[in-house]
Amino acid sequence: MKINSQEKVVKKLLKILSELNLERKKGIHEPYFNKKETSYVQKSVNSTYVSTVGGFIKKFENEIKKFTKSKYAVATVNGTSALHISMMTLGIGSNHEVLIPNLNYIGSSNATIYCGASPHFIDVDSKYLGIDTNKLRDYLKKNTFTKKNQTFNKKTFKKIIAIAPTHIFGQPSKMNEILDISKEYNLKVVEDAAESLGSFYKHKHTGTIGDVGILSFNGNKIITTGGGGMILTNNFKIYNQAKILSQVSKKSHPWKYNYKGLGFNYRMPNLNAALGCAQIKKLKNLLKAKKKLYSRYESKLKNLREFYLLKELPDTKCNNWLITIILKKKNKNLLDKILKTTNKNGFNTRPVWQLLSQVPHLKKYPKMDLSNSINLSKSIVCLPSSVRL
Ligand SMILES: Cc1ncc(COP(=O)(O)O)c(C=O)c1O
Repeated sequence: MKINSQEKVVKKLLKILSELNLERKKGIHEPYFNKKETSYVQKSVNSTYVSTVGGFIKKFENEIKKFTKSKYAVATVNGTSALHISMMTLGIGSNHEVLIPNLNYIGSSNATIYCGASPHFIDVDSKYLGIDTNKLRDYLKKNTFTKKNQTFNKKTFKKIIAIAPTHIFGQPSKMNEILDISKEYNLKVVEDAAESLGSFYKHKHTGTIGDVGILSFNGNKIITTGGGGMILTNNFKIYNQAKILSQVSKKSHPWKYNYKGLGFNYRMPNLNAALGCAQIKKLKNLLKAKKKLYSRYESKLKNLREFYLLKELPDTKCNNWLITIILKKKNKNLLDKILKTTNKNGFNTRPVWQLLSQVPHLKKYPKMDLSNSINLSKSIVCLPSSVRL
């Protein structure tokens, strides 16, 4: 595309963002608080229970169970620790590989490494951004072998033990196809639903479909606990182990401090859970407001021929966490211009994260052809997505 035409596209997008009357100089996804949050946090302070004991933690876990219909939930200090514990409960360890989409936040790759295992990068679908299941099937057929019903990488001879789909920007991945592949290759499924509270795949909440799933309540997520995460599972054994591991493996006793073994100080503090209990009361309204914001973007962006707006996969409901446009033809030059000009004008737009296969400490790990994610990294613009109720 010629320089002149690129400038026209940038101008058109800037005009659209201006016409939407978005607040400028704001984060890409800011939390929404009012008196409820202050009063709940105050209650936690008044009770003196501000750390890993206190009524708000259980209450928040119960609220999340009710909303997601997960049988069990374990609250943690953040989404990354939830991923770490989830992977430990599945027995992920040394000499194992975990299939992880390349277009992704770094949390699941780091958690894999915390467990002593290796991430193995796979490509994503150009249209919906989740795992490209056709490409994966083909790849596994050619690059793995089976022994005693377990799948091994032909090059590294390591066992491919699990797959960790991410519901990127809140958009549910093709879970039925991922589950089919996981059955065929005997893989555990860890769903990274950090961004997708309020997103459903065929009426099931994301994070409750695989063996185990996680949510994040970081300040930029749809609801926040300041920092926080949640492990979701329908399996009692996984739940029980997650609960123990995330509370330093302390044996349950009213006053004695004895331990079962190695554990992690990952329990969500009561102070954070208090914020979560106030926030979750707003979740349904926040989801409605996000949908409205998406529709406003949709009506304005439909005349911008150079992009398409990321749309829900059929049979899914997306929480519209980060509203995203994708250049129909990858163009790094145009992408950089858009990001530079919009940010200069106070609109907090973002590219996608650095591709995992290009992060220095992750470059050495196995990967398939990653051309879709490479092209997408030159095409994705995340738009300001905060809502004001
Ligand atoms: C897809 C994804 N996975 C994992 C995480 C990790 O969550 P946290 O920041 O709470 O550790 C995040 C977000 O921050 C995320 O976006």
